[in-house]
Amino acid sequence: MYAERVLSGMRPTGRLHLGHYHGVLKNWVQLQNDYPCLFFVADWHALTTSYDSPEVIADSVWDMLIDWLAAGVDPEKATIFIQSRVPQHAELHLLLSMISPVGWLERVPTYKDQQEKLAHKDLSTYGFLGYPLLMSADILLYRADKVPVGEDQLPHVEFTREIARRFNHMFGREPGFEDKAKEAVKKLGGKKAKLFEELRKRFQQEGDAAALEQGRVLLKESGSVGHEDLERLYGYLEGSGKTILVEAGALLTEAARMPGLDGQKMSKSYGNTIFLREEPDVVSKKIRTMQTDPARVRRTDPGDPDKCPVWQFHLIYSDDDTRKWVQQGCRSAGIGCIECKQPVIDGVLREQVAMRERAQPYIEDPSLVRRIVAQGCERASALAEETMRDVREAMGLSYR
Ligand code: TRP
Ligand code: SF4
Repeated sequence: MYAERVLSGMRPTGRLHLGHYHGVLKNWVQLQNDYPCLFFVADWHALTTSYDSPEVIADSVWDMLIDWLAAGVDPEKATIFIQSRVPQHAELHLLLSMISPVGWLERVPTYKDQQEKLAHKDLSTYGFLGYPLLMSADILLYRADKVPVGEDQLPHVEFTREIARRFNHMFGREPGFEDKAKEAVKKLGGKKAKLFEELRKRFQQEGDAAALEQGRVLLKESGSVGHEDLERLYGYLEGSGKTILVEAGALLTEAARMPGLDGQKMSKSYGNTIFLREEPDVVSKKIRTMQTDPARVRRTDPGDPDKCPVWQFHLIYSDDDTRKWVQQGCRSAGIGCIECKQPVIDGVLREQVAMRERAQPYIEDPSLVRRIVAQGCERASALAEETMRDVREAMGLSYR
């Protein structure tokens, strides 16, 4: 059993917009209060599809990190780092590749989908095929049990679980496991050792779930046993081997319906974004000129908020009273669209004030961001190294 840990990554694609904020970052900011969190820039992932424009990485990484900090990701609470600066990601990816069936990778739904969607690129590469496995390495490296992702990434988390299971099955039974486990039981001390054996028997022979639970509690509270032995004891209790890689669960981030200025999904490629730290007058102008219900040609034509992207913004930024005012005023032609948009403009600007304030020190002194990342990389490396030691040993690489 490992401590609860959250891990998530984001590709460096440039300045972030409100879609990223409401879809991803707000969720991260919540999670960092409840769990130890690791958030990283997935720069190697960017190369799996954009190997032909590597300059995008350096152009995007630091702006994106400032956007994270602006949104409220707190380096005191969360570990913030860059994938390519923790080379264990690559090492685990390589080692996992030894046991990853090519068929599994070909069947990950995003493989064919993305190849079709990005048909202008040549994605018949080894790196692109292996992209879900790189993501598995990201996750398993930190024994993260909670991975916040959007729906499109769920198959990758499922794939990661399958790889972890396969790995544990193949390598989890270290040579002499039984003997080592018995030795570890002794280290629990006379009385506890006896109780542990009893609970184990009750679970394994009679399937007594309460005994399993009790056994886990006993282990959790046994301070005297080292990390390695503890892992063995959990495996021994449950009748599995040693859990080397933890099966992660997805934390599905509900797609916050943050539409773009034209009602489609907010996305840079549609040119319908408001950036996280956009100039206030630009924000105002973008909203003032955004589309409304096309049926409202004249001020006197009644409209239908359900057919208007501005209404989607009200759903995110306005309170009940304002929404009622919109519904009534729009349908009765009682209010004009410019009037209707004002509370949205105010809402977005209000939200952005805090973000701009939080970003300011990092813009003035970019070395602050470099330092946060350096510290984060160091912390991440230490965690990664713990896992890699076990993985190398399990795969026969700790020989002298
Ligand atoms: N694949 C994710 C994306 O493209 C980013 C990512 C990489 C990630 N590694 C991860 C997300 C590990 C969660 C956990 O959006
Ligand atoms: Fe859209 Fe508001 Fe205009 Fe109605 S009044 S069409 S909801 S902007």
